[in-house]
Amino acid sequence: MNELIKLRERLGTIRDLQRAAAVLDWDQQTYMPSPGAPARARQISTLQTLAHEWFTAKETGKLLETLQKYQCDLNEEDRILVEVTSREFEKQIRIPSSLVEELSRITSETFHVWQKAKSDNVFSPIVPYWKEIFRLTREVADHLGYNDHPYDALIDQYEPGTSTKELTGILSPLVEKLRLFRERYTSLSEFSDRFSGVNYPAEAQLQLATRIIQALGFRMESGRIDLSAHPFTTSFDPADVRLTTRIHPEDFRPAFFGAIHEAGHGIYEQHLPAEHARDLLGDAASLGFHESQSRFFENMIGRNDSFWTLIYPLWKETFPEASVRGNLHDLIRYVNAVKPTLIRVEADEVTYNLHIIIRFLLEKDLVAGELQVEDLPEKWDELTEHLLGIRPSGVADGVLQDIHWSIGLIGYFPTYTLGNLISAQLKESLESDLGPLDRLIGSEKYQEIVRWMNEKVYRHGKKYLPADLIQRATGRPLSPEPFLRYIQNKYDRLSQLY
Ligand code: CO
Repeated sequence: MNELIKLRERLGTIRDLQRAAAVLDWDQQTYMPSPGAPARARQISTLQTLAHEWFTAKETGKLLETLQKYQCDLNEEDRILVEVTSREFEKQIRIPSSLVEELSRITSETFHVWQKAKSDNVFSPIVPYWKEIFRLTREVADHLGYNDHPYDALIDQYEPGTSTKELTGILSPLVEKLRLFRERYTSLSEFSDRFSGVNYPAEAQLQLATRIIQALGFRMESGRIDLSAHPFTTSFDPADVRLTTRIHPEDFRPAFFGAIHEAGHGIYEQHLPAEHARDLLGDAASLGFHESQSRFFENMIGRNDSFWTLIYPLWKETFPEASVRGNLHDLIRYVNAVKPTLIRVEADEVTYNLHIIIRFLLEKDLVAGELQVEDLPEKWDELTEHLLGIRPSGVADGVLQDIHWSIGLIGYFPTYTLGNLISAQLKESLESDLGPLDRLIGSEKYQEIVRWMNEKVYRHGKKYLPADLIQRATGRPLSPEPFLRYIQNKYDRLSQLY
């Protein structure tokens, strides 16, 4: 059909603009001299505005309308493309561009206010800004529409088809169990500093990380790894995927696990369907699914004891100065130490999701108007003490620690926990198909693991909603149980083993 060709061309043009903006963003975060920032911000904004205008144009709407009318003439793949594109189109045209502009203006101002308030450890300067961001975000939710709760509309932007009620049902059973696990496994924290404070040469750190991510299945010939302040992954095409990590001179873990985490994202991107690289079906299923891959590679492989047994000789050779600090068992406990921290990004596997639950509970109530910004620090500290057993010393290591709300990312946090839950459920299915993960890792069968993920997840791109994809991949709806089983098995074993 002629309209289908026209739609494809249009989506291709839009995708080119978006990818070009992504190249500029990658460059900004890796190599650009910092005085280039204002010009770069304009360049990126121009490309993004053009992409948005093309996508929300009347012409796109007309093409979609015609194609929907004649959808029985389309094959399944094309029908899904029209459906997925229409859903996104409807969402984007519902938000008035004046609201988008207002939000983008306030968030770019807030970023600097947040940075300063955080470094000064004071809350009051951010209050009017966050009030405005939450007010405008609520407006966005109202424009998008929702059934039960305004937060539904927001989470739907990142995890299509997920509701607040479903999310609450999935997250609630985690709370008490994880609190219990936190108490039970903190004995594993005795080695938490064992290998820190030694010189880890930057060059050696990057070399080791590169070698490991290649072994795991990240294709270096279709990608790169560089350094940035905050690790991230970006894709310009499945054949060109960029990762970054960061180096800590006296702790090998940020670079090492940062690289493996991003490689998990990167492997997903490299396997997305190339035939859809210039339309929406070439995207990942959701942020939760994306994070399921980074956490799977980072934690379920990267912190696995069979994995460490395998790479221990290489690790010792790479960091001779650190290797005298302890043996393999000490090292395994070091990379798996359970120790509640106030800072989310430093959290271990057991307590990480408690950090997310704190943010989910608060942002949900903020959006609904059931909690006021002024009352946030008190609520935050209370929840932190209740769930993590420690209390922030101020707002810098409390409510102001994350950038998300200041840049308007509201409804985004739960995708981190969904990622952890999805990864555990995928792991159970993978094991019932291929045998125990420990054994696959012990015999370096990473290709088999990637092939399984590709079959079940990667190759489908954005064809299915997250709830459908997890059902197809694992035969069950998403549940917190596999994750709880995984944590309990792993840490019971670690506490008995050594
Ligand atoms: Co990630």
